[in-house]
Amino acid sequence: MAEPRILILGGPGAGKGTQSRKASEEFNIKHITTGEVLRANKDRDISEFESEYDVPRTYMDQGELVPDEVVTLLVKEALSQVNGFVLDGYPRNVEQAEELNNMTDVDVILYLDVDEEELVQRLTGRRIDPKTGDTYHIEYSPPEDPEVERRLEQRDDDTEETVRERLRVFRETTEPVIEYYEERGQLERVDGKQSPDEVWVDVRKAVENAQ
Ligand code: AP5
Ligand code: MG
Repeated sequence: MAEPRILILGGPGAGKGTQSRKASEEFNIKHITTGEVLRANKDRDISEFESEYDVPRTYMDQGELVPDEVVTLLVKEALSQVNGFVLDGYPRNVEQAEELNNMTDVDVILYLDVDEEELVQRLTGRRIDPKTGDTYHIEYSPPEDPEVERRLEQRDDDTEETVRERLRVFRETTEPVIEYYEERGQLERVDGKQSPDEVWVDVRKAVENAQ
């Protein structure tokens, strides 16, 4: 099987990262995630771009989008180094979707569908292991090792207030991206409310059918 090119869309907390990590392992492709690239560059000087603030952190901690120019540059760089990929976190608006069209073809576009109240529960309960980068949830998937449990951290933007703002930005700015792909007959919906393993069964099937 050729290396698949996968795009995973979904609201904040829909499970994009969780499913992308599985796809990356199973299909042996690079996981490109704008959220993580930006978190690693939170304090990088972006004042050379047409931006209101000088660092990505200011946008991210308020739940707002980082300027298109910055994110598009990062995605372009990352895509130029790979064949297959699973892209998570981009495009976040219709302008970015058009940019992506110019950069590469995609084999399958998946939308992880989850309602808003569930998203709030998932994000406010999410914890990250700073040592491994693994994601847990205090109720749904707590770590078994008490040592791991002690070192867990919460993401800066996973407070209830910022989560609500991220959801508002999603509704206003990213939902049109879902419609954009739907109108082109490219979107495949997956029921994201199922358990992570059940969601993965559907994701894998969709990718295999697209090959
Ligand atoms: P980003 O990091 O992309 O945040 P997001 O889209 O809000 O999505 P998350 O990473 O929070 O959620 P996820 O879908 O990956 O869920 P996860 O698998 O972790 O972006 C952060 C910020 O960066 C943005 O706000 C913006 O400022 C900036 N940015 C990023 N991209 C940008 C762009 N293109 N343009 C401009 N700015 C950009 O799962 C969540 C939780 O649920 C976990 O605890 C997990 O254990 C649990 N869980 C997962 N699946 C299930 C399941 N099936 N059942 C139960 N629990 C589950
Ligand atoms: Mg993520």
